[in-house]
Amino acid sequence: MERTLAIIKPDAVAKSHSGRIIERIEAEGFKIKAIKMLHLTKQGAEGFYAVHKERPFFNDLTDFMCSGPAVVMVLEADQAIIRWRTLMGATDPAEATEGTIRKNFAENKERNAVHGSDAPETAAFEISYYFNSLEIVG
Ligand code: CMP
Repeated sequence: MERTLAIIKPDAVAKSHSGRIIERIEAEGFKIKAIKMLHLTKQGAEGFYAVHKERPFFNDLTDFMCSGPAVVMVLEADQAIIRWRTLMGATDPAEATEGTIRKNFAENKERNAVHGSDAPETAAFEISYYFNSLEIVG
C-alpha cells in the first residue's frame, strides 16, 4: 500500500465540486486516511511549492492557492501516486484524457482543480506538510 497527498484546489472548492471529486476518489478504490479544509496563507503556499520557486508561474500559482479554501487529503491504495495522477489527468485540462478529473472540472493549467504528489519522496514531504501522525488514521 502507498500513500499520496491530494488537494482539491480553490477553484474546484469555490465551484462546489469537492463532493463529486471525493465521490470519484472513493469509487476508484482509494481510502481516505486524512482530510481537512484549510485556507492557505501566501507563505504556506510558497513553502508547499518551494520546488517551483524559480518558475515564472510561481507567484501566480501561490496567489491562486491562497485565494480561497482548499481540501487536502491523504489517499491510500496500491500504487496510489501513479493511480491518483492518472485519475487527475494532464496538468493542462486541454490535454487531459476524457473522464479524468481535470478534464471534467479544471479551467486551465493553473486553475486545474486538483494536485497530486509526483513521487514517493514528494508524497512524504507533502503529507507531512499538512498532517501530523495523529491526524492520519491507521
Ligand atoms: P500541481 O500539480 O499543483 O503542481 C504545480 C502546479 O503548477 C501545477 O499543478 C499547475 O497548476 C501549475 N503550473 C504548471 N505549469 C504551469 C504553467 N506553465 N503556468 C501556470 N501554472 C502552471
